[in-house]
Amino acid sequence: MTLSKIQIRNFRCLQGAELSADPDLNLIVGNNAAGKTSLLEAVYYLGRGRSFRGGGNAELIKTGADGFTLFAEVSPADVSPGPSAKIGCEVSRGTKTIRMNGASAKTTDLASALPVQAIDPEIHELIQGGPEQRRRFLDWGVFHVEHDYITTWRAYKTALKQRNAALKGQLPNATVEAWDSTLIKNAISLDLQRKTFISDFKSQLSLILSEMFPFSLNISYSQGWKEGGDFKEALAASFPRDRAMGATQVGPHRADLKLHIDGQAARHRLSRGQQKLLGAALILAQTHFVANAVSSRVVLLVDDPAAELDEEHQEHLFCLLQTVPAQLFITRLDSSGVGWQNNGKTFAIEAGNISPLV
Ligand SMILES: Nc1ncnc2c1ncn2[C@@H]1O[C@H](COP(=O)(O)OP(=O)(O)OP(=O)(O)O)[C@@H](O)[C@H]1O
Ligand SMILES: [Mg+2]
Repeated sequence: MTLSKIQIRNFRCLQGAELSADPDLNLIVGNNAAGKTSLLEAVYYLGRGRSFRGGGNAELIKTGADGFTLFAEVSPADVSPGPSAKIGCEVSRGTKTIRMNGASAKTTDLASALPVQAIDPEIHELIQGGPEQRRRFLDWGVFHVEHDYITTWRAYKTALKQRNAALKGQLPNATVEAWDSTLIKNAISLDLQRKTFISDFKSQLSLILSEMFPFSLNISYSQGWKEGGDFKEALAASFPRDRAMGATQVGPHRADLKLHIDGQAARHRLSRGQQKLLGAALILAQTHFVANAVSSRVVLLVDDPAAELDEEHQEHLFCLLQTVPAQLFITRLDSSGVGWQNNGKTFAIEAGNISPLV
């Protein structure tokens, strides 16, 4: 799919911004605080229902405004062209309305219509940060590949929430255990789908890494309970600990992607610049993988790629960006420097106002 028209109102510093995007490459140039990252966040929000910078909706509403609105036209899969989808979000303090082609829709509808990924200056957090970010990364990929993944995930989360509420409320064992069969059934299914995804994803990743890194990365999935063990048994064994902690201590919600180089955790082994490049490699591999799965390009947002990368590392990244099956939105402080290829559209942004450069 490809984003064509984007309209933004009262989102961070963007009071009323509009752009007709190039299907391949969009370069957004502006000084510090001009609104570059805000523009990428708005696009990300349309496909993910949240910002890649974290924080809640209230922070995204322009100071002094009651709410923000985002709208975009999305052309469908490259292989089966059809009419564009019109997607939009309207967020005010406390309410959120999502629409697709005029009808009420859900965040997951937007996620399917607009697969969007971001590489931002905090991308090293995918390596250095906690497991939650890597689980999100993983789940976004599986979501696009396995069609019933979201249903399973929701059923699991509901059972987990109820079980944890019973544990926290110190309710009788039978009340806690009433959720176990739903939890177990969905945990096993989630685990299987994630494992299938990872085994396919790994080969895509090694292709990207071989062009970027002089060392070999070992990537493994830690499922959230004893490796290879039976989840039913693990849940039963964890019961005293669950009681003590007031929450379920084992399951897919505790899973992680483990990244090692020569037996050492990547977050300890790699420099910050190398972590950024590895984080970018993970995103790029997933872009290839998901684009393949949905038979269409995806949207890839690259915020300030020059931040903390030397020229050689920037060149590596730009080489890979040129082959990625994605519609690119790249921000920069200026239009000089590594990787600047003017084969798409360039937009200047100043104090929240966007204009195409000709
Ligand atoms: N809710 C908000 N309402 C109004 N302005 C906001 C809001 N949130 C952030 N801003 C402001 O928006 C401006 C643009 O921020 P943004 O992060 O998009 O800049 P940028 O062009 O990416 O800058 P940099 O090059 O420093 O990364 C900043 O001045 C910021 O303080
Ligand atoms: Mg920025």
